[in-house]
Amino acid sequence: RCCLSHIQEHSRHLGRKSMCPPTIPYVSTITEQLKPGSLIVIRGHVPKDSERFQVDFQHGNSLKPRADVAFHFNPRFKRSNCIVCNTLTNEKWGWEEITHDMPFRKEKSFEIVIMVLKNKFQVAVNGKHILLYAHRINPEKIDTLGIYGKVNIHSIGFRFSSDLQSMETSTLGLTQISKENIQKSGKLHLSLPFEARLNASMGPGRTVVVKGEVNTNAKSFNVDLVAGRSRDIALHLNPRLNVKAFVRNSFLQDAWGEEERNITCFPFSSGMYFEMIIYCDVREFKVAVNGVHSLEYKHRFKDLSSIDTLAVDGDIRLLDVRSW
Ligand SMILES: *[C@@H]1O[C@H](CO)[C@@H](O)[C@H](O)[C@H]1NC(C)=O
Ligand SMILES: *[C@@H]1O[C@H](CO)[C@@H](O)[C@H](O)[C@H]1NC(C)=O
Repeated sequence: RCCLSHIQEHSRHLGRKSMCPPTIPYVSTITEQLKPGSLIVIRGHVPKDSERFQVDFQHGNSLKPRADVAFHFNPRFKRSNCIVCNTLTNEKWGWEEITHDMPFRKEKSFEIVIMVLKNKFQVAVNGKHILLYAHRINPEKIDTLGIYGKVNIHSIGFRFSSDLQSMETSTLGLTQISKENIQKSGKLHLSLPFEARLNASMGPGRTVVVKGEVNTNAKSFNVDLVAGRSRDIALHLNPRLNVKAFVRNSFLQDAWGEEERNITCFPFSSGMYFEMIIYCDVREFKVAVNGVHSLEYKHRFKDLSSIDTLAVDGDIRLLDVRSW
């Protein structure tokens, strides 16, 4: 049901399907248009002697004149390790966008997940968000994928269809209760603060998914599971982007408890699209962000079945909430 489990399933599937690994240079036509929600998953390995490699989303495959490159993604290992991104139009490079947070290592395997969003590409490597690249050329013009340089590629996978396709907002399995969330030109408008009733009460096996986009310069946001009657907050998830802290707590009998803050990797970043999955287990909630497990939170509020409300607020654009 959830988009990210599709991704994982799909990329696993793709991994199995790749009979013979692509050879470099790899230049191949992309069979469908890259619309918002499309995903490209590239798995490979960086050889010991690699100085650089690049993944180019091209408009055509012409060599002379050289085809436009809408998105040039170029990890470099010489001198300072970095990723250089750029766009080539009419054989001229634009300004470079350089990321020094380098996820690639020589002699190590990698998985690159590139998501096409309405106004940018979003790239994660080995499950970690790495960078955003705002479209300079309409991504619908992209029809060719090129991979060049010193790299071994094991598999390349595409997912074109997606429930993100139109990036339309929706609320499935929830009933909105705040009146501000009005129908706007036939579309749901998920304004904040957002509050909605779960169509069935919480309990082991139930899942809540929140999709959104973090604002640029966001400070913090929160996703809460609330027992509507007592207004106890069973689960308060509060990512604070300004200090890179992912605070978890409960508000029971009119008082906040002790914060939990330990995390192996802060999963959010300014401007990034995210899908947060909250899975209720017998003893704890499990939280994943963009397909990667992030944390668990032992139940402090034990009467799970009285948790019936989802509340979201803060510095994000809320795109979709669902529950089953
Ligand atoms: C709750 O919503 C889910 C997803 O829309 C649906 O499959 C399920 O039947 C609903 N349950 C109830 C009790 O309405
Ligand atoms: C946080 O610490 C607790 C207790 O040591 C541990 O059980 C839990 O897995 C840790 N969570 C994360 C996200 O590291």
